Amino acid sequence: MKGDIGVIGLAVMGQNLILNMNDHGYKVVAHNRTAEKVDEFLQGPAKGTDIVGAYSLQELVDKLESPRKIMLMVRAGDVVDSFIDKLVPLLDKGDIIIDGGNTNFPDTNRRVAALKEKGIHFIGSGVSGGEEGARFGPSIMPGGSPEAWPFVKPIFQAISAKTENNEPCCDWVGNDGAGHFVKMVHNGIEYGDMQLITEAYQFMKDGLGMTHDEMQSVFIEWNKTELNSYLVEITSDILGYKDTDGEPLVEKILDTAGQKGTGKWTGINALDMGIPLTLITESVFARCLSSLKDQRVEAEELFGKKKSIVEGDKQVWIEALRQALLASKIISYAQGFMLMREASNENGWDLNYGNVALMWRGGCIIRSAFLSNIRDAYDIDPELSFLGSDSYFKGILENSTSAWRKVAAKSMEVGIPMPSMTSALTFLDGYTTARLPANLLQAQRDYFGAHTYERVDKPKGEFFHTNWTGKGGDVSSTTYNS
Ligand code: 6PG
Repeated sequence: MKGDIGVIGLAVMGQNLILNMNDHGYKVVAHNRTAEKVDEFLQGPAKGTDIVGAYSLQELVDKLESPRKIMLMVRAGDVVDSFIDKLVPLLDKGDIIIDGGNTNFPDTNRRVAALKEKGIHFIGSGVSGGEEGARFGPSIMPGGSPEAWPFVKPIFQAISAKTENNEPCCDWVGNDGAGHFVKMVHNGIEYGDMQLITEAYQFMKDGLGMTHDEMQSVFIEWNKTELNSYLVEITSDILGYKDTDGEPLVEKILDTAGQKGTGKWTGINALDMGIPLTLITESVFARCLSSLKDQRVEAEELFGKKKSIVEGDKQVWIEALRQALLASKIISYAQGFMLMREASNENGWDLNYGNVALMWRGGCIIRSAFLSNIRDAYDIDPELSFLGSDSYFKGILENSTSAWRKVAAKSMEVGIPMPSMTSALTFLDGYTTARLPANLLQAQRDYFGAHTYERVDKPKGEFFHTNWTGKGGDVSSTTYNS
């Protein structure tokens, strides 16, 4: 009997996905560039299963049922191209290559188009959930050649996480790089969620002087509220974790954040498309700032920074912080969905936002109860332009604004950096202001560069130039917008 699917790449994610597929009754052929890895896997975790090995790409191809489905679980970038180049001559028209790595979506756009010319289908799929997700149910976000989806769908939906209603956290996202785009936004949101949690932690630790056990209890309680999520849950575990000397391990970890690039891509993409994705972008910059450790240590001394003590009733502050975190999180998701909406329109992807929320409901790093509410919001209005306008989310934003402002103001007053929580509030203030000061900005542009402006008392699209100083000419510059 031939194999149902081949997987190339036996690092931890690849191995776990294979074992997951095997658990669901699929016959998997496993290949790795280094042959010993295949043997180690077959004699180790795969022992006693139906998984078979392939020691060359030709052997892999020969052992697979047609149309062949070959999933690459290798490092994103050139390695993917190199495997594609080697596989294509061995494949038949109609065969399917799947890239399950964290690929930047323009690469997937390119590969789908290039392989289409050769008659090979290509799927670029986000896979989220880390090692455990891959093994027992990840969130899977596939996009690319739609013709390939019916062949891959049963396998992917079987191995994916399921919601409480047993719906698979995997569905077709859209053409081209749509799957990898949605995974990129997932990761951007992951950056935002993580940053928000760390800001709440710093406010509690430095401002309120709370112990790790106290903070752990707060996160345990928060996890019983609308904030219920995987990241809040693991944060409570981390805060309770003691090093061998009985002290909290988290305080022994160097405060410089790493990043592999997906958050940065999300920010770059938002800038390219002109979407105010402020919270995620602040979260990326917060990681960049954290990496300037030596400079920060020097500057703290240079500026003689004082301890940032927050006075007042601790319980009142903790509840205010919870509300600020929740409201900021709504803004972050609202911005992320704005970005997806713009990308969908620009690329003709026809994204289904309710389905995206469903795919993120389980298995992935940002999984949370909150995503069910997002799905409901898009069920009510599939074209919702701002998530915060949905009645459920609008209610939360309105109820928490006062507490949120207090937390933001206090953090500014005492000097606790909370870039994401404060930028989220600033965003909402901007978004809900009918008249912003951009009129003055337009006047400045026109003053120094004759860039022209539109008038509130004239139809949009009609441009005016004023000779502000009496010295400039009447010739205006072109009025294109980038
Ligand atoms: C996931 C994660 C994963 C990502 C890590 C690390 O969905 O399982 O998003 O894909 O690689 O979270 O990302 P950073 O190194 O950029 O923090």
